[in-house]
Amino acid sequence: MANRDDDSKFKRRSQQWFGKIDKDGFAHRSWMKNQGHPNDLFDGRPVIGICNTWSELNPCNAHFREIADFVKKGVWEAGGWPLEFPVMSTGEVLMRPTAMLYRNLVSMDVEESIRGNPIDGVVLLMGCDKTTPSLVMGASSCDIPTIGLSGGPMLKGRYKTETLGSGTGVWQMSEKVRGGFMKIEEFMDAEAGMHRSKGHCMTMGTASTMASMVESLGLSLPGNAAIPAVDAQRYRLAQLTGRRIVQMVHEDMRLSKILTRQAFENAIKTLAAIGGSTNAVVHLLAIAGRIGVNLKLDDFELGSAMPNIVDIQPSGQHLMEDFYYAGGLPAVLKIIGDSLHKDAITANGKTIWENVQNAEVYDPKVIRPLDNPFMANAGITILRGNLAPNGAVIKPSAATAKLLQHRGKAVVFETIEELHARINDESLDIDENSVMVLKNCGPKGYPGMAEVGNMPLPPKVLRKGISDMVRVSDARMSGTAYGTVVLHAAPEAAAGGPLAFVQTGDWITLDTAGRKLSMEVSDADLARRREGWTAPKPWLDRGYVKLYIDHVMGAETGADLDFLTGQSGTPVPRESH
Ligand code: FES
Repeated sequence: MANRDDDSKFKRRSQQWFGKIDKDGFAHRSWMKNQGHPNDLFDGRPVIGICNTWSELNPCNAHFREIADFVKKGVWEAGGWPLEFPVMSTGEVLMRPTAMLYRNLVSMDVEESIRGNPIDGVVLLMGCDKTTPSLVMGASSCDIPTIGLSGGPMLKGRYKTETLGSGTGVWQMSEKVRGGFMKIEEFMDAEAGMHRSKGHCMTMGTASTMASMVESLGLSLPGNAAIPAVDAQRYRLAQLTGRRIVQMVHEDMRLSKILTRQAFENAIKTLAAIGGSTNAVVHLLAIAGRIGVNLKLDDFELGSAMPNIVDIQPSGQHLMEDFYYAGGLPAVLKIIGDSLHKDAITANGKTIWENVQNAEVYDPKVIRPLDNPFMANAGITILRGNLAPNGAVIKPSAATAKLLQHRGKAVVFETIEELHARINDESLDIDENSVMVLKNCGPKGYPGMAEVGNMPLPPKVLRKGISDMVRVSDARMSGTAYGTVVLHAAPEAAAGGPLAFVQTGDWITLDTAGRKLSMEVSDADLARRREGWTAPKPWLDRGYVKLYIDHVMGAETGADLDFLTGQSGTPVPRESH
C-alpha cells in the first residue's frame, strides 16, 4: 500500500492540535510538555492512542499496563508517538447487574475519547468479554486507522489432578454440588486453582470467541486470538502491533477498509468452525451497525452448515492453551479457507489467505480436519415462530442432540428472582420433559440482557442424573456455558414480545432442524393475554440506566442504542479556548 506520509503528515488530525502556530497550539504543546516530551514529538509524526481497558476491578485485563508498554515500544520503533488513555473497563465477574448493560456506554467513552483527542491511529487493548465489542464499536464510529490486540487467555485451570476450564468448570461443579455429587468444601477449594494466571477465560467463551472474531475480521495481526496471556509471544505480538499501527496511519488504512461485508461473513463462518459463543451474534450485529455494513440476524445462517473443527470447552474438552499450541486460529482459517472470502484485507495489509495459507495443525486432536470434524453443522441457528417472531438463537454444538427437536410443557418464571426463589422447591411441578421459560431478562428487561439463559436445573431432575433440559428466554448465555438453551428471543418480554404471554402449561415446540420456536397458543388467546399488560418497572429511573432502557434496540439488531448506530468520523470543528 502506498506510503502517504510525505504528503499527508501536516494534514494529519493530530496536527490540528499540535501543528498550530498560535495560542491554541501553544496550549496543546505546552501542557503535554509537562510529561517531559521533547519538541520534536510535535513534528507531525503519527500520534497513536493506546486505548486501555486496564483495571484492577477487571481481573481479565489487569495485566494490560504491561502489554501497553510493549505496544509503546513498537510505536516508538516505527517513528510514532504513543499516548495511552483509559476507558471504562467492564469486568464480567464483578459488574452488576451485568457488564453488557455498559457495553454501549463504554463504546461512547471510546468514540468520544478518540474523536476529542489528537489521535491519528489507535490500538485497542481488549480482553474480558465486553471490552472487545465496546472498543471495536466505538472505534468504528470514528473510523480512523485501528488495530486490535487481545490480552490473551489464562493458562489452564487445575484442581488436584483435574484440568478446569473457567466458567464451564464452575457450572459443572455447582450442578454437582446441587445434585449432591460434590462436597461444598471441595467446591470452595477449587477456587484458587481455576484461575491461576493473568488473562481472560481460557475456554472458548465470549472473550476468546471475540478475540477470534477480531482476528477473523482481519482487525489484528495473525495469531492474536489464542496466544496465552503469559506467553512471551503475546508481548512480541504487542510490540509488532505497535509497529504496525504507525504504518497503518501512513497508509490511511481506516477501519472501514477492513470491516467489510466480506469480513463479517468470514467471521460468521469462523464462529461456527470454532464453536464460538452466541454472544458474538449481538456483538457482530452491533459492530456492523456502527461501521455501516448491512448485516442481519439471518446472515448467521451462513455458518449453519459449517462443521465445528475445534475440540474445546464448553462444547469439547480442551482449552485455549491447547488450541494455541495446536496451531491456533490461523490453522482453523486455513482449513476452512475455501469457504472464506480469501481476498479480504487485514490489518497487516495482506489478505486473510496470505496470512494463513502456510499455517499448520500441530495437534489434530484439538484442531480436526473438515472430513472428521468435532461436530457437523455446528453454526449458530436462528429460530423463528410465534414465540420469537423477530428471531431467537441456539447453539447446537453446546446442546444435547436429542433435545434439539422437542415438545414440552412450559414452566414459566416471570423474573430471575422468581427463578431463584422456586427452582430448588421440591414441590415445583417440573420434570426433564418440561420447557423452562424465563422472562424479562432481555436488554430492557434486566436491564442489559444478562447471561442467565442457561437456567440451573431443578435438583429433583439433577438427581436422576439428567444434566440438560430445553430452556427458553430473552437473555443471553455465557460463552462458557452449555445446554439446549434458546436465547435472545425477540421481541423481548419487557418490550411486549410474545414471550411475555407464555403461561405455565402451554405446549412449546423447539424444532431446530426446521428453524422453528413456537407455542401452541392461538393468536386470539395471545391477544387476550396481552390486554392490560404493562411493561415491568425498571430498577432505576434515572441516569445511564434510564438512557439505556429508553433507547436500547432489540437483540435481533445487536442491542445497540438507537442514537449510536452509524458513524460520525472524527471532525471536531471547535477549540476549547
Ligand atoms: Fe473475563 Fe471470562 S470473566 S473473560
